[in-house]
Amino acid sequence: MNPDYDYLFKILLIGNSGVGKSSLLMRFADDTFTDNFMPTIGVDFKIRTLEVDGRTIKLQIWDTAGQERFKTITSSYYKGAHGIIVVYDITDKESFKNIDNWMTEVEKHASENVSRILVGNKCDMDESRQVSTDEGKELADQYNIRFMETSAKESSFVEEAFTLMTKEIKSRVVHTDQRKPSGTGKKLTAPKKKIEKKSGGSCC
Ligand code: GTP
Ligand code: MG
Repeated sequence: MNPDYDYLFKILLIGNSGVGKSSLLMRFADDTFTDNFMPTIGVDFKIRTLEVDGRTIKLQIWDTAGQERFKTITSSYYKGAHGIIVVYDITDKESFKNIDNWMTEVEKHASENVSRILVGNKCDMDESRQVSTDEGKELADQYNIRFMETSAKESSFVEEAFTLMTKEIKSRVVHTDQRKPSGTGKKLTAPKKKIEKKSGGSCC
């Protein structure tokens, strides 16, 4: 049986309630957006396939509830993730301050070599901005991860953020595969070329 993809990656979205995790996923998977806030209950997921560097990559994206009461259930999904998108809201300083706590959760529950990126969402709301782009970049640098500002509402840099996450995972998997055949990620065909890293963009 020929599978219709080369890799299957599991990506997890985490961050405070209301930062726009579900909205980012809805924009990326369905190209839709709603202003209504319907907090996620537990965990939800969607599938989308991406072409990256000539490879077909199937993404299984897990969208977790940011509310504290779901922490036990959501943290049980960290382990199987190849990549984690840690999201804050650029108009909500608290959600940014809490990134350190989310990173601690990742250290506690995720696989040791999980790929991570930092995303500052709602960059269409520059007039209410509480976190500067430089602050976001600096925090990402501290964690030695890539950073991007997005708007699920205006569809700015959403595709790029998920593509960046996918490339981060793919380059790690390719690298790991070269040394150890049992690397993470479901590799179904041999990759031909090494992934070129491009610098993260930011909107607004
Ligand atoms: P939980 O499921 O509770 O963890 O929240 P969440 O992170 O999934 O937030 P959700 O995607 O439900 O969005 C919360 C609110 O922010 C909704 O009212 C969205 O319409 C709004 N929102 C999300 N993304 C954006 C954005 O890029 N710009 C603006 N202006 N609003 C956004
Ligand atoms: Mg949600």
